Amino acid sequence: MRKKVTVIGAGNVGTTAAQEIARRDYADVVLVDIIENLPQGKALDLNQAASVLGYEPTIVGANDYDATTGSDLVVVTSGKPRSPGMSRDDLVTTNESIVGAVTRSAVAASPDAIVVVVTNPLDAMCHVAHHASGFPKERVFGMAGILDTARFRAFISWETGSSAKDVQAVVLGGHGDQMVPVVSATTVGGVPLSQLVAAGRIEAMVERTRKGGGEVVNLLGTSAWYAPGAAVAQMVDSILLDQKRVLPCTALLEGEYGIDGLYMGVPVKLGAGGVEEIVKLELTDDEEQALEASAEAVREVVGVLTLA
Ligand code: NAI
Repeated sequence: MRKKVTVIGAGNVGTTAAQEIARRDYADVVLVDIIENLPQGKALDLNQAASVLGYEPTIVGANDYDATTGSDLVVVTSGKPRSPGMSRDDLVTTNESIVGAVTRSAVAASPDAIVVVVTNPLDAMCHVAHHASGFPKERVFGMAGILDTARFRAFISWETGSSAKDVQAVVLGGHGDQMVPVVSATTVGGVPLSQLVAAGRIEAMVERTRKGGGEVVNLLGTSAWYAPGAAVAQMVDSILLDQKRVLPCTALLEGEYGIDGLYMGVPVKLGAGGVEEIVKLELTDDEEQALEASAEAVREVVGVLTLA
């Protein structure tokens, strides 16, 4: 039987994610937005691409949650994106109320769903969705690490002249400028990055990764959507096809990595049950300290939430 995915927010990221998921051809998609006609128009356009691109899902656009009933998975992208000069954390109050409201509506219609949060500030919005849904932590988590890692992998592939597919890397921590690209776990075709690229160049790529979202915002005037949409679809695949991929995602830590009661980016095993395992990666002392600093930055933003 075909799976059903609800994507809330028919903006740049939501529509790109919906298109990526539809093209996989194993799930139907419901696209929800508060703007009248927007999700309906996007759904019509996506359905009309099906015969050309060769997929057969039904994409439905809606302004309420009736059509979302019984979804296997809900992706939350609704909320404001950044504009130039803004940090992700500047969005916290506006997006808390949006994410809280849409999560409550979505889970009322789909009480067995898994919720994947995308709205920024991502780590804090995972707390909001977890609280609003009342779901266990395994079924509420966020997308950020795949995107941040994809940016790091792109920079490494350009620097080394190697295919991005052969760059293995992982970026941990909060989805902010203090995220932690784990250089000690980064290889190109199995060769440690530190053997291929001088330390100064590695540091420059780490910095560019940390500011990678802002770089796009400065060029476009709003945040990215192609790589984020693709990253969401990779998570959806791993969950709905029970692939058990080990991917960096934002999960609720309860003592893992020495962090308690905080959503943070860590490698997780993603399968039909959602986050099936938090994978422990050996970090250097510097990386551990950087992760703690990133946790501190996330705690500050989480402290602003009302969790009403
Ligand atoms: P966008 O402005 O293109 O789309 C957001 C959509 O949400 C709009 O269509 C808006 O009408 C809708 N919306 C607002 N309130 C709603 C509600 N109550 N119910 C239903 N829909 C509602 O923004 P974009 O670029 O798609 O970004 C969405 C969010 O994702 C932003 O917060 C952005 O910062 C975040 N983001 C997160 C990334 C990550 O790695 N986690 C990467 C890229 C963006």
